[in-house]
Amino acid sequence: MKTHHIWKKCHIGILCIVCAFFIEVKSASSAEHTEHSLKRAVEGNFLMGVALNTRQVNGRDQQATRLIKQHFNSIVAENCMKSSAIHPEKNRFNFADADKLVHFGEENGMAVIGHCLIWHSQLAPWFCIDENGAKVSPDELKKRMRDHIHAVVGRYKGRIKGWDVVNEAIESNGSWRKSPFYEILGEEYIPLAFQYAHEADPQAELYYNDYGMDAKAKRNKVVELIGMLKKRGLRIDAVGMQGHMGMKYPESDNFEKSILSFSNAGVNVMITEWDMSALPNVQTGANIADTVAYRKSIDPYTDGLPDAISQAWNNRMKEFFNLFLKHSNVITRVTVWGLTDGDSWKNGFPVRGRVDYPLLFDRHYMPKPFVQEIMEHQADPSR
Ligand code: G3I
Repeated sequence: MKTHHIWKKCHIGILCIVCAFFIEVKSASSAEHTEHSLKRAVEGNFLMGVALNTRQVNGRDQQATRLIKQHFNSIVAENCMKSSAIHPEKNRFNFADADKLVHFGEENGMAVIGHCLIWHSQLAPWFCIDENGAKVSPDELKKRMRDHIHAVVGRYKGRIKGWDVVNEAIESNGSWRKSPFYEILGEEYIPLAFQYAHEADPQAELYYNDYGMDAKAKRNKVVELIGMLKKRGLRIDAVGMQGHMGMKYPESDNFEKSILSFSNAGVNVMITEWDMSALPNVQTGANIADTVAYRKSIDPYTDGLPDAISQAWNNRMKEFFNLFLKHSNVITRVTVWGLTDGDSWKNGFPVRGRVDYPLLFDRHYMPKPFVQEIMEHQADPSR
């Protein structure tokens, strides 16, 4: 009798534990579902992307991984697909990080973007010179470009949604940048790069990507470039407007004019490297008489962003975000250039070691007020 009673008690106990477990699991999954999410907030407008650094690619920042999955449905490599990283020597590739990034994107149903195939910066040292350090011939450079593009694009064929094929080929004054590619092949290197990329993966979208796209001279040259590629029957799906901004630049009117000019030229637009420095512009050529005072004046927020500056920054970011939404019929992706403020390249550029606040999440992985607002509005549109 006593044993029977104990067993009965045990059964009730086990039942309670099982019920509690299911209630816990259910509430966890519904919490996950109702959790705010930036990608859900902009669903139907554009993809929400983020650039991953190598720590994130290698899963060494678990908090970042959680946020990336929660808020973004597109990823791009901040550095690990550039030629110096992925193809450091003529006969040696280093695909390790890029493979992980692509795998992470696929596992999480994200649109993976390749950045970037042909760029003068972070260029593999062997790419444009021979063993004596002299420029290679035009034919040799064509061969190298073709081999590089075929190897990299070919490896991820069918797995990468689109490639930044050529990056930053135009100067602010609208002239072609005198990069090693230009010096050897003239502007011809641009259509060649698009041709090779298309051969390597005919399904992949192809983009031209650049900064300072609000400037009239650059805008016009990009329109000319789109026309030149289209006239030759080459594929170009979108122009990437990088979107590295500050508190005083660009003017949103000029930025909007460029969005419209590019879409009128027959391509989509992507905001590909969005960030906004909260720091004062650095005057180059300043006479640094008092280094300490100078440093303080260009790095004034080491202990945190004052409320007034934070508010101005959030307002300005919101203004641009609304501009992107306004043109979401042609803007297909908005990608931020890093996850948290601590990750941003802006802490090291144009002055090393400053404390900047350019991204959507702060150093504690918390969303900035304007991001929170966008997500809450989606959850409750009456707000
Ligand atoms: O990998 C080396 C590491 O081995 C070394 O110990 C360390 C010491 O400084 O440097 C590391 O390389 C750095 C690399 O980022 C990876 O962290 C380079 O010094 C640094 O210059 C490089 O900066 C990158 C920059 O492109 C290079 O031009 C930034 O992270 C990256 O955000 C930035 O991204 C570019 C886009 O690709 C194109 N548009 C402009 C944008 C900002 O410059």
